[in-house]
Formats: sequence, C-alpha cells, structure tokens
Amino acid sequence: MKLFIDTAEFSEIQAAYEMGFVAGVTTNPSLIVKAHRDLKEVIKQIADLVDGPVSAEVIADKAEAMVKEAHDLRRLGQNVVIKIPMTPEGMKATAILSKEDIPVNVTLIFSANQALLAARAGATYVSPFVGRIDDMSMEGMTLIQDIAEIFTKHQIDTQIIAASIRTPMHMLQAAKAGAHIATVPYNVLLASMKHPLTDAGLARFMADWQAANQK
Ligand code: E4P
Repeated sequence: MKLFIDTAEFSEIQAAYEMGFVAGVTTNPSLIVKAHRDLKEVIKQIADLVDGPVSAEVIADKAEAMVKEAHDLRRLGQNVVIKIPMTPEGMKATAILSKEDIPVNVTLIFSANQALLAARAGATYVSPFVGRIDDMSMEGMTLIQDIAEIFTKHQIDTQIIAASIRTPMHMLQAAKAGAHIATVPYNVLLASMKHPLTDAGLARFMADWQAANQK
C-alpha cells in the first residue's frame, strides 16, 4: 500500500515528502479553506514539489462545468488528478475526462456499489471514506475489504484510496484490507512512526555510548 498525505498545508507536505514515504497528495475544498490558501495557487505549489499524483477537487455540480474546471486544474501540472464527487453529474464528467486520459479520483464513496460504478465510468482512483462511516457507528474498514474483493474478482484496475483515515490503526487496517493507497493526515503519519520501545532503545544506545566514551 502506498501512502499519500491528506492535507493542503504546504509545510506538512514538504516535511512528509522529505522523509521519503509520501507518494502523492490529496486535498479537498475543506482542507484548502482550513489552510487559508487559494485553490489554484496551492495546487500548483504542491504539484511542483511532488512527483506523484496530486488530487484537486472540482467545485462545480454540473458535468460540463466540472470538465472545464478539470481542464483548468490540469494546466497547473501534469500530475494533477481531478477529484470528482460521486454524483450522476460526477459520473458524466468522469466518463468524459477518462476518455481524454485525464486521471479522476472519485470521492465521497460510501458503498461498494458506488465504487463499482465509478470504476466502470473510468475512474483511475476511488476514495472510500473510512472515518466518516465509523462516525456513524458502522465499520468503515469493511467497505475497503468489499471494494478490494470486488475489484480483484472482476479484474478492475481502479486503485482504492482509503480516505478519511483518522488513526494509525486505520492505516494498518487499510493495508491489510487491500487498499492500494491510504491518504493519511500528517499527525497520523507522525503518530504511526512513534514507538516507545524505539525511543527507549535509542536512549539506551546513546547512554551506553556516552558512558563508554567518557572513561
Ligand atoms: C480524502 O480524499 C478526503 O478528502 C479526506 O480523507 C476526508 O477526511 P475527513 O473525513 O477526516 O474529513
């Protein structure tokens, strides 16, 4: 499973990218507003830094306008992936864009049928939202397992991006459930890196080294 970072905070992307484990970036309108950034400006900045796919979401709700926005966003970088919501108009836009070989990430996926429809419309990626399903006292990770099983059984090459990842346990479970990618907030990436035994082990190594070299 590859790791993307789910943020529009450029400093977080830069920091994670320097650590080498980030293969792409996802954003959404809420994240861009939270970062107090202009959409096109921040997407260009991210697309220039990162080699991998950078998902930028359309704001329009009609297919024709989504396609126009997609064309504008693609001018910001050849690695820009167009994030399209799972709606009937979104499916129309996905069909048009995929015929133009423009990669689409269909977002706001909450059922396996939605994922299958998006894949058949030509999506390169689907983004099932794990955390938001958990928020409703349901098991979000089951959705990743179901989509992975269906895509494998029917040889569908659309990639599953486990989204709405809130905890290190989500990241682990997404990998085991068969997600191709998890898009993970910066704080969850950092939390996943930590282990008390790593800290204790390093402290012991350093203490032993200093004790031996002070003699
Ligand atoms: C990613 O594509 C989504 O925009 C994001 O993961 C949503 O996460 P949230 O449910 O924590 O807002």
